[in-house]
Amino acid sequence: MTAEYKVHGDVAVITLNNPPVNGLGHATRLGITEGLAKAQADAAVKSVVVTGAGKAFSGGADIKEFGTPKALAEPNLLSVILALEACTKPVVAAIHTVCMGGGLELSLGCHYRVAAPGTNVALPEVKLGLIPGAGGTQRLPRVLGVETALNMIVSGEPVKSELLASLPGQKLFDKMAASAESVVEEAIAFAKDVAGKGGELPLVRNLPCKHPQGDAYFQFAKNMVGGMSKNFPAPLKCVDAVQAATKMKFDDGMAEERRIFTALMFTPESSALRHIFMAERAASKIPDVPEDTPKRDIKTVGVIGAGTMGGGISMNFLNAGIPVKILEMKQEALDRGIGIIKKNYEAQVKKGKLKQDKYDQRMSLLSTTLSYDDLKDCDLIIEAVFEEMGVKEQVFKKLDEVAKPGAILASNTSTLDVNKIASFTKRPQDVVGMHFFSPANVMKLLEVVRGEKTAKDVLATVMALGKKIKKTAVVSGVCDGFIGNRMIEQYSRQAGFLLDEGATPQQVDKAIEKFGFAMGPFRMGDLAGNDIGWAIRKRRAVERADMKYSKTADKLCELGRFGQKTGAGWYDYQAGKREAIPSELVNKMIEDHRKELGITPRKISDEEIVQRLVFALVNEGAHILEDGIASKAGDIDMVYLTGYGFPVWRGGPMHYASQVGLYNVAATMRRFALNPRDDAAFWEPAKLITKLAAEGKSFS
Ligand code: NAI
Repeated sequence: MTAEYKVHGDVAVITLNNPPVNGLGHATRLGITEGLAKAQADAAVKSVVVTGAGKAFSGGADIKEFGTPKALAEPNLLSVILALEACTKPVVAAIHTVCMGGGLELSLGCHYRVAAPGTNVALPEVKLGLIPGAGGTQRLPRVLGVETALNMIVSGEPVKSELLASLPGQKLFDKMAASAESVVEEAIAFAKDVAGKGGELPLVRNLPCKHPQGDAYFQFAKNMVGGMSKNFPAPLKCVDAVQAATKMKFDDGMAEERRIFTALMFTPESSALRHIFMAERAASKIPDVPEDTPKRDIKTVGVIGAGTMGGGISMNFLNAGIPVKILEMKQEALDRGIGIIKKNYEAQVKKGKLKQDKYDQRMSLLSTTLSYDDLKDCDLIIEAVFEEMGVKEQVFKKLDEVAKPGAILASNTSTLDVNKIASFTKRPQDVVGMHFFSPANVMKLLEVVRGEKTAKDVLATVMALGKKIKKTAVVSGVCDGFIGNRMIEQYSRQAGFLLDEGATPQQVDKAIEKFGFAMGPFRMGDLAGNDIGWAIRKRRAVERADMKYSKTADKLCELGRFGQKTGAGWYDYQAGKREAIPSELVNKMIEDHRKELGITPRKISDEEIVQRLVFALVNEGAHILEDGIASKAGDIDMVYLTGYGFPVWRGGPMHYASQVGLYNVAATMRRFALNPRDDAAFWEPAKLITKLAAEGKSFS
């Protein structure tokens, strides 16, 4: 049982006890109803207090039960709330710390609510593509008024209890306690008091629910919410449900809420958001690294290289209050790098996003050096020098000499072999890849590259540190490109073939942007610099000469069109502007290239473009799983959602493929294999895909 029952004098106290946040799992729900039955049956009990142990009243549904039959097993949350309402003795919720989702709905079924200040109150269901499903949309407007309630339901954001308590006319809280520590005691006193007074027990369901402007208000709300929630159906449905509360009898409104909730449950958007919620939490768990693995203490960080990446990487640690020392080869390089960090922070100060004292504090944590000796006290040293094995070798040999024992030595390499880099030291167990994405102070993704010899405590430390600097850290094994760039290579190859066959860069970009990507492959190339891919292809041409590519990207680079930084790439750019203008010259270059190859261009549908780009990611992703480079499909999705602009409402490439159905995905791949201009061998569906499809399964 995960709810305790105790009697204090004539007050029964039911305490939810399901750490960490008293999730309303089946056993907890059962505990509440059994407690209520005991209280009801005991003549000596005059009133009941419901509260939560530890650091929450209740955080709502138990995520361990998500999508399982247990989530709906009786007594389900609706039944528990009905039981609370039906109790003939006054029930008082003693609310503190966290009161969210089903937890808040539970409290709204109680006759009275006493709350501690500082409590985070929210109905966050919209963040999972749902609406509250246990009366939240019907009861919250009755106690807070339509506008406040709708704002909370549509945003899903927590609001502090004292703020809610200060709203004129609010009926959410009957009393504010002095503190979280005293709330149960104060609720007991309150319960005794109301039990002594007798009289009818108040129910939220009996309160009126109206907005003075009626339907006009809801029309405005829909215009606003609809404009802000493109691609996500749930926010608009929140408005519908609250409107129902104002128009229908309570029980009919409840039925309407249930109908909307159930319909949303089956939308691909909600499925994607729920998948992401779980995948995000699962990403920090590494199968063979127990959660209690001891971690190394990281008090100071060294960064080598003050270029594009070194500067951004440093800012992450400064933001988290961790001192950083940057090393460069020359003073000028240091000055330039520090100048960019300053400029970035100053822009934030100007926009009012960063307070001056915070800025001063961050800059005071930053120091620079030209000497490796100054790194000897660093607990973690991250290398972000040129992407050349020879340079990495020099740096890691030097680090091996100066770094203190136990220091973690990390490389930000995007493609090089981390095992080889580790072999330049006599302590490969301390070497790990920390692959940040550009701009490193903004992008959420951190690929943590696990070398063959990387120690478990090094991994555990870096994963925890990733959380501290607010990154989504995902573990990748060692391979060319790790998870993200290994997959993007296949995506880029398809983009190139599409040009050869008849598409233009703008058609490809438009199609995939319409699918939801933040940026198509060609606009992306122009932003990141087409020369980067060129250099990688040159290296790979030696290592993997059999890999088939379209030659257009190389031809573009031969023209010096590296992208925005050279004012021209796949598109033309006007000085100082980022708008991509279709380039006649490039389109002519592509046409000429087709002629050289003897290709008659064909009209390619947007659907084919999207499928070829996305399924290329999926097939390579499946190989990555087969090779053990990623430990779960959800990790691959997190990489693409946080590092590559994959549309959130589609849940990542692997989740999307599961939604399409792996049988369909495999069949489409086989069809692509018949295209003589494409790479037939690549389109052989990964064994994992055919196996799962045959078993009727998906990646999840
Ligand atoms: P960058 O060229 O902007 O900066 C490299 C810096 O390292 C330069 O300031 C250079 O003076 C310094 N440097 C070179 N050799 C050095 C040495 N021996 N000792 C000290 N400093 C030295 O390069 P960027 O773009 O910052 O890339 C750095 C690393 O990060 C590379 O391994 C790259 O593959 C990786 N990376 C780059 C991304 C990007 O989008 N630019 C994304 C993810 C990783």
